[in-house]
Amino acid sequence: MKVLSTITEMQTEMIKHKASGKTIGFVPTMGFLHEGHLTLLKKARKENDIVVLSIFVNPLQFGPNEDFSTYPRDFDRDRKLAEKENADYLFYPSVEEMYPQKSSVTVTVHERTDVLCGKSRPGHFDGVATVLTKLFHIVMPTNAYFGKKDAQQVAVVEGLIKDFHFPIVLVPVDIVREEDGLAKSSRNINLLPAERVQAASLSRSLKLAQSAIEQGERNPLNISAMIKEMIENETDAAVDYIEIYSYPQLQPLEILKGTIIIAMAVKFTKVRLIDNVIMTID
Ligand code: PAJ
Repeated sequence: MKVLSTITEMQTEMIKHKASGKTIGFVPTMGFLHEGHLTLLKKARKENDIVVLSIFVNPLQFGPNEDFSTYPRDFDRDRKLAEKENADYLFYPSVEEMYPQKSSVTVTVHERTDVLCGKSRPGHFDGVATVLTKLFHIVMPTNAYFGKKDAQQVAVVEGLIKDFHFPIVLVPVDIVREEDGLAKSSRNINLLPAERVQAASLSRSLKLAQSAIEQGERNPLNISAMIKEMIENETDAAVDYIEIYSYPQLQPLEILKGTIIIAMAVKFTKVRLIDNVIMTID
């Protein structure tokens, strides 16, 4: 596995592979790798000639009061894990390499950002879209792998690829969970021990909602109230949002029908966690 830190080196290698007709699978991450990231890598390995993992904690997608400085980092461990998964390239640029000066052009996301994390993290998806535009030009992937844990991100990237005509296939991958149902996340390490136990309530409440829908509940307000009650009873966390929309359009629904997303964000002492379920109702 080659570890590269400069854009020029990365582009030179990728142009070479493209010219020889190789497919390139790309897994963009912010590092502190866990089973979720590794599942994306494994899928990329199966489906492409060349696999590229990037690790870059992108300052542009963090708000001023968010956790950029405390976001967990462990490059040596990540490098070993990437090697074990047979990645061919690990792109690990510095902030100065990616943003050598104040950007003169950035990407603004207009659709699907007035809800969910877009609403509670203003500017977040602009930062994601901007860094992905740069990374897509650097890595030139055939296929790009994204987890459905960040379902709104998947919807935004779908728009980015389509609107900017990137010749890239977006591959969404199912959420990978801990044994108690907690969605794997680099941020889980910042939960206090008691909160780690409570955090299983997020997925439990989504399961409860899902079975209520399966049993015929069609009112989104009843579903979000049910989830809120469970989170408030079982955790000390503050609910940031519990929202239900059509997916991937992210439009509000009066009656649950078609493919929907039930998504939530809750704030523990040092960490904000998200989770969601996407389901189709006849
Ligand atoms: P990061 O949070 O490191 O996540 C990298 C990728 O791993 C994302 O596509 C995310 O959805 C996926 N992922 C994380 N946890 C997962 C889980 N439990 N199951 C399945 N997939 C999971 O998302 C980002 O980084 C950044 O916004 C990035 C796209 C790299 C742009 O900076």
